[in-house]
Amino acid sequence: SLIKFDSSKLTPFVHKNELGEMQALVNAANTELRDGTGAGNDFRGWLDLPVDYDKDEFNRIKKAAKKIQGDSDVLICIGIGGSYLGAQAAIEFLNGAFYGKEKGKYPIVVFCGNSLSGSYLYDLINWLGDKDFSVNVISKSGTTTEPSVAFRIFKDKLVKKYGKDEASKRIYATTDRKKGALKTEADAEGYEEFVVPDDVGGRYSVLTPVGLLPIAASGADIDQLMKGAADARADYTDTDLKKSTPYQYAALRNILYRKGFTTEIVENYEPTLRMFSEWCKQLMGESEGKDQKGIFPASANFTTDLHSVGQYIQEGLRNLFETVIRVENPTHDVKIPEDARNLDQLDFLKGKSLNYVNEHAYEGVVLAHTDGGVPVMTVNIPDQTEHTLGYLIYFFELAIAISGYLNGINPFNQPGVEEYKRNMFGLINKPGYEDLHDDLTKRFNE
Ligand code: PA5
Repeated sequence: SLIKFDSSKLTPFVHKNELGEMQALVNAANTELRDGTGAGNDFRGWLDLPVDYDKDEFNRIKKAAKKIQGDSDVLICIGIGGSYLGAQAAIEFLNGAFYGKEKGKYPIVVFCGNSLSGSYLYDLINWLGDKDFSVNVISKSGTTTEPSVAFRIFKDKLVKKYGKDEASKRIYATTDRKKGALKTEADAEGYEEFVVPDDVGGRYSVLTPVGLLPIAASGADIDQLMKGAADARADYTDTDLKKSTPYQYAALRNILYRKGFTTEIVENYEPTLRMFSEWCKQLMGESEGKDQKGIFPASANFTTDLHSVGQYIQEGLRNLFETVIRVENPTHDVKIPEDARNLDQLDFLKGKSLNYVNEHAYEGVVLAHTDGGVPVMTVNIPDQTEHTLGYLIYFFELAIAISGYLNGINPFNQPGVEEYKRNMFGLINKPGYEDLHDDLTKRFNE
């Protein structure tokens, strides 16, 4: 496996026999997933996606990315939840920390429609100024409020800047094959369309056009990304807990959860993995948090957060465990120079590198947190290339699906996401929600 999963530091928390005792349950969970006998079986398209995808559409994505690179300084990517997290995670993972801060070879991909903040959109419009831009509007349902509102605003800007015909050529719509308001509009206005497959849910959709178009537009190699995921798919068919790492990870999470370690902190030592943790949080929280149970996913960025929530992790309520995503060979490094006067007393580090210090910070933290009563697992990845990212995405997708079945829930639905939407529709007086409007307005102002 390209990923080296390390659970060796769990010894104080998990007895030797425990993993093996999960084997039968893991096999059953795997059968539910692979044979489609489990709940949510309509949403297993991601399992074979790395090899079984629409190749013509894939080529159209590459063409569209080229066009965007040729005619746009900025790609405005509009979507929320599964319709943006994967793309933003991938773009940050694959590019340097200051990607987008200066005009480069490729368009800057920026994200909106993932909140309802007027200030954010105002700032974005201001920053955009008179830069050339295109829009990729992404919504599987085609009716989600946040992206629909943002799309209306940027569509208006495009039409005012380029005229109606050219504006339509700068809009790329990623949505359902058949239904939804976005599909209707895209057909009517002649936008280039890409499909979110029926059997792939939002949080599992990064390797569909949902993620692929923005990722390709940013200059990344999506062939390698798919190849990485395909390699993981081929490597991870065996459920044997002695060797199969995504299955080990799924089983160990559940072993820890059942002992009261109910919060998992996804961690990194590379700022460019910050959004990957956000993607993990959605994958984990939306898949597993239901029926009044499930591990709560959190994230921390190290060493930064060692100076904030690090205190809590070391000494707070003992319901935490940690999953570190560690890059074995970071993309770049910087040497620590000599300073003859040595007033900062750092001469013992001269000639050493930042990554050397970072590595020892990781080792120190693992030991300190273990001593403090926090189980730590590490997902070691070799580097931050497209191939590794594709592999890593598949590792987590598979592990979380198995983990969900191990905890007896449907990992592929999200009924809880609907509750707030209904209330918001009522409160903003959406036609059809008038009764709810009166009721909620009264209750909120009581
Ligand atoms: O994972 C999910 O299903 C959700 O997070 C959705 O991705 C999110 O609500 C956006 O939905 P849509 O793509 O339909 O606009």
